[in-house]
Amino acid sequence: MTMDRATMLPILDTRGRHLEDLRISVTDRCNFRCVYCMPKAVFNSQFHFLPRAELLTFDEIARLTRLFVSLGVKKIRFTGGEPLVRRDLEVLIRQISEIPGVEDLALTTNGSLLTKEKAVALKSAGLRRVTVSLDALDDALFRRMNDVNFPLAKVLTAIDFASQAQLNPVKVNMVVKRGLNEDAIIPMAAYFRNTGIILRYIEFMDVGTTNGWRLEDVVPGAEIIRRLDQRWPLEPVPPTRPGDVATRYRYRDGKGEIGIITAVTHPFCHNCTRARLSPEGLLYTCLFGQSASDLRSLLRSQASDRDIVSYITGIWNNRTDHYSEIRRSLTPGLPKIEMSHIGG
Ligand code: GTP
Ligand code: 5AD
Ligand code: SF4
Ligand code: SF4
Repeated sequence: MTMDRATMLPILDTRGRHLEDLRISVTDRCNFRCVYCMPKAVFNSQFHFLPRAELLTFDEIARLTRLFVSLGVKKIRFTGGEPLVRRDLEVLIRQISEIPGVEDLALTTNGSLLTKEKAVALKSAGLRRVTVSLDALDDALFRRMNDVNFPLAKVLTAIDFASQAQLNPVKVNMVVKRGLNEDAIIPMAAYFRNTGIILRYIEFMDVGTTNGWRLEDVVPGAEIIRRLDQRWPLEPVPPTRPGDVATRYRYRDGKGEIGIITAVTHPFCHNCTRARLSPEGLLYTCLFGQSASDLRSLLRSQASDRDIVSYITGIWNNRTDHYSEIRRSLTPGLPKIEMSHIGG
């Protein structure tokens, strides 16, 4: 690498938050059309996905990652769309895993393309762990939620392949939407208890503009915990890192751990250390960011590493994002909803 790591100092934003995580989206495409994420009415044959030339190449992603690591990033996550629709992703994973300073390398996937061979290839390329999105344990409901009639059994098998390939700890993300899959809260816990797999319940968030989000569709994390605790008593587990999004609990009977991601009812912006890189090389400093900075133009204009680092540093130093906290203060109905669901 051309950068002297020793000269680089960790950088802080306007709220004193470090830059520690980089979430890299490698494609805007997905083979699912989850009703809460890519509704078919919008993401249909008329939808304009990014053409290949617009995507960052693996070399460009690797170069940027190296520069982000020099600024303090330790944890990398590949996302999408569905990251495994990007061909030869393991080639990129190998490039990233060889960067000194990368301590955690993870992938969030819908599991549909995670064959046994793929899981092994990802592991041997240096991927540490995998998180699989799964919102239901009832085949008919799962097919309705992914909206491409994809069978549940294949995703459950993919989760097994990930475990067998030692992509541990394997986590499962379940987005909970009121009236849609809340009845799966208990069955999902029953299925994943005692398997070593960490199930995380996610409050349905108002990401993007197309998912028809309404506050009343959110099942508050406290309600989820209460329901689980009644069935299998839980106790809190201290966070692994202050910036982690999931609040951890374990079953008092020793049958494992769950997580709960309460971006709506208990925002965690105060220690948000995450930057996001879009497939076409835009840098977002918030999941709900309205604006982004174009790193691809810099990369393709022969900018030096030093130029890019100072550009990113400037962006991070000026970062003010705390969307989830603002949303909370702008949503006077929210405390009422929390009250009615956690019993005051
Ligand atoms: P771990 O490192 O395994 O804890 O992963 P993670 O929770 O950071 O990543 P994952 O991709 O599994 O994200 C879980 C859920 O949290 C998803 O619904 C994300 O959209 C959401 N999430 C992740 N980061 C943020 C964030 O910075 N802000 C908000 N509001 N939600 C986030
Ligand atoms: N609210 C919460 N989580 C969401 N995801 C996608 N859309 C939403 C939403 N509106 C989840 C996916 C995946 C993770 C990266 O984000 O299910 O697990
Ligand atoms: Fe969105 Fe993930 Fe569903 Fe694809 S699998 S539509 S990216 S939530
Ligand atoms: Fe970070 Fe933005 Fe999420 Fe807050 S809303 S935790 S600032 S990504």
